[in-house]
Amino acid sequence: MAASDDGMMRGFWYIAFPGSQVPPGKTRPMTMLDEKLIIGRQSDGGVFAYADLCPHRGMPMQHGSFDGTSLRCSYHGWAFSAANGACTEIPALAEHDDIVPGRFRLRAYPCREVQGNVWVYVPAGRTLPETLPEVPTVPGFDGQAPQVTTTMRFPSNAEIAAMGFCDPAHPAFVHTSRWWKSKSGLSLRAKEKHFEPAPLGFRMQQHQLKHGANPYRLLGRDIRIDIGIQLPGIRIEHIKGSRHSACVLAAVTPITPGETDVHYCVYWTVPWLAPLRPAAAWMARDFLRQDLEVAAKLADGPVTPSMLFVGDADVQVRWLLRLKKEYLASQAEGRPFVNPVRPQVLHWRS
Ligand code: FES
Ligand SMILES: [Fe+2]
Repeated sequence: MAASDDGMMRGFWYIAFPGSQVPPGKTRPMTMLDEKLIIGRQSDGGVFAYADLCPHRGMPMQHGSFDGTSLRCSYHGWAFSAANGACTEIPALAEHDDIVPGRFRLRAYPCREVQGNVWVYVPAGRTLPETLPEVPTVPGFDGQAPQVTTTMRFPSNAEIAAMGFCDPAHPAFVHTSRWWKSKSGLSLRAKEKHFEPAPLGFRMQQHQLKHGANPYRLLGRDIRIDIGIQLPGIRIEHIKGSRHSACVLAAVTPITPGETDVHYCVYWTVPWLAPLRPAAAWMARDFLRQDLEVAAKLADGPVTPSMLFVGDADVQVRWLLRLKKEYLASQAEGRPFVNPVRPQVLHWRS
């Protein structure tokens, strides 16, 4: 894992797109962290990701064909195994050419489908670490896809996009839809939340839902919530009620230094909620659109916006920036990451 100076954090798993967007036998071109990839699914269901570049003469592989097992370049017809990226055929070779096609390969990116999303590991350099980190998961939904998933491309860097995940001062002014909060704007309540460090991030300890957030009431009584934030920009909210539980996964994927996909996935265990999926999807999009509008307005502002951190309400955002800084420094200096977050009780009004 290592840093680069474009502000994008390499050495992490990122969501490319929901698995439903790539059926068997299909490929999709995708730019992630300014790297061009071709991502696809073999006929047997396995997903793969390769650099979108033929090693022969550099033709993007997205212009070629895919039959479910082999990718074929559109320029001179070299074929590559979708399973491991090795070249399997060079049509122009004569019999006396003593060349083994398998010595040429597409550059592979680790790629896994986990809880309904296709994740790609973007390494820091040309070589992969000996052991890859775990793909982030939500608790209690092994092997399950989200009931609702939505993705929006923010016109901002990943840092700005991820700040919204842990910024309790903005919802009262940005997320003011009637369905989410019955009162908006200046009707704020005092909050006290306990935080602790967690791997590559921090966690808001479990607390009981007291007011508002009406959709959570569908999970029963005694609603308890805990929220984890971790690099490179992942938020996992776990909501548990007396009858059901739900998880909300929010994750950023830097596309270029100035564009970021924000993925928002909702998992729940409430069977009778299935017919409400379209309505829930609409709500999720509405929610994300409000954050996207903030990012767009910020992008329209000064290149270097002011960054003040005032009061406990801004501590989580400050932690997020510190975590990133420490991660990049630890990689640049070749030393272990030291989590800068200490256990703390924070107070704010939201
Ligand atoms: S560039 Fe791909 S086969 Fe020649
Ligand atoms: Fe937000």
